[in-house]
Amino acid sequence: MKLLHVDASPKSERSNSRALARHFVDCLRELNVKLDIDYLDLMEHPPAHINESFTIAAYTPTEQRTDAMVQTLAPSTALCKRVLDADAFLFAMPMHNFSYPSVFKAFIDNIIRAELTYVVDSTGQYVGQLVRQRTLFITTRGTDMRAGMPLSHMDALTPSLNAAFGFIGVQSPNFVNAQPTQFAAKEEREKALERARIELTTIAKTWASEQKN
Ligand SMILES: Cc1cc2nc3c(=O)[nH]c(=O)nc-3n(C[C@H](O)[C@H](O)[C@H](O)COP(=O)(O)O)c2cc1C
Repeated sequence: MKLLHVDASPKSERSNSRALARHFVDCLRELNVKLDIDYLDLMEHPPAHINESFTIAAYTPTEQRTDAMVQTLAPSTALCKRVLDADAFLFAMPMHNFSYPSVFKAFIDNIIRAELTYVVDSTGQYVGQLVRQRTLFITTRGTDMRAGMPLSHMDALTPSLNAAFGFIGVQSPNFVNAQPTQFAAKEEREKALERARIELTTIAKTWASEQKN
């Protein structure tokens, strides 16, 4: 399985989302899933934010692009290729101000590309191209936004991930949301991480069994 593993936390060793992502990869390995990992650390390799030349180039039909436009789009095109080449996605990130870290937004802006990750068919419908990839989002949140909690309506991260990745074809992604990881007593934080590890172990088993079928 070619797994594109993307980390987006600004923290390194102390990051909860990175640790949970490592746990998931370890689970897959223990289950003898053959992994070919394409690793992308967005803090080390942050994609560029969208600028004017990008917007012009991106919305110029492929066959009409100048060499300069092709050059402008090259890093985004390369990221799209990595995404399209993968069999599965592991995206790990903290919640930052109710949504994803800005570096992950830049990643999304670079991988949603016409004629690459989505196409427009003859009837004008948008057709996402990432329909074959299994997808897991690991998110960590300092507060507890689970359903029924007072802050649950503040979760703009889950719907935004579903919208962006649904547009490019991702179907039925798994979510493991560890919460509360910061603004709670130590015992509550530890329980949140343990719940997440248990969920990740279960998802790894499902991925492993699907791969054997
Ligand atoms: C800039 C910043 C913004 C944050 N915004 C939120 C937030 O909106 N909601 C929340 O529950 N936690 C928020 N947190 C807390 C983190 O989501 C939490 O500590 C998470 O576990 C960090 O994951 P990491 O260790 O992988 O970086 C924020 C943390 C930072 C640094």
